Amino acid sequence: MVLPVYVYGMSVLRKTAQEIPEDYEGLDQLIADMFETMRDSDGIGLAAPQIGKSLRLFVVDASPISEDKEEPELKDFKKVFINPYILDEWGDPWSFEEGCLSLPKIREEVSRPSKIRIEYYDEKWNLLEEEYDGIRARIIQHEYDHLDGKLFVDKINPIRRKLLTARLNAISRGKVDCDYKIIFPKK
Ligand code: NI
Repeated sequence: MVLPVYVYGMSVLRKTAQEIPEDYEGLDQLIADMFETMRDSDGIGLAAPQIGKSLRLFVVDASPISEDKEEPELKDFKKVFINPYILDEWGDPWSFEEGCLSLPKIREEVSRPSKIRIEYYDEKWNLLEEEYDGIRARIIQHEYDHLDGKLFVDKINPIRRKLLTARLNAISRGKVDCDYKIIFPKK
């Protein structure tokens, strides 16, 4: 089922999300719904707070961007991250233009370290520890931030952010033209 995406201004996006217990009811369905919602809105990553669930869970599927990028491994980068923990981030910081389904139509350059090591459970509750770099690290870092109540606009230069104020306020009033269903704060 395609779920509406919670956008800028919704308090769930600013909360620290809770760990998911292994016996959490309906987890498989929630994960399936998140993949469906992400595909429907042409996203490459989606974190549970973005569909209103304050849980430490995100899904990624970079196959839509695998053709126009130089990283062939993006094609198979379709994964579920449950209770992830970034153990280490290192490498030269690099800038990349990010977007977010919770910030429709906004794209900004964000600087992040180039490499990460992450521990997480997959959808079968196998505990994994992996390293990523390039776009894959970037996607994980972005989604991981959602679990700690952070958005990419928090990380851009303050002048750029100031210039976005009116657009961010418009999003929080639902005044944005996007082709997927959104939930915004009531006036
Ligand atoms: Ni996002």
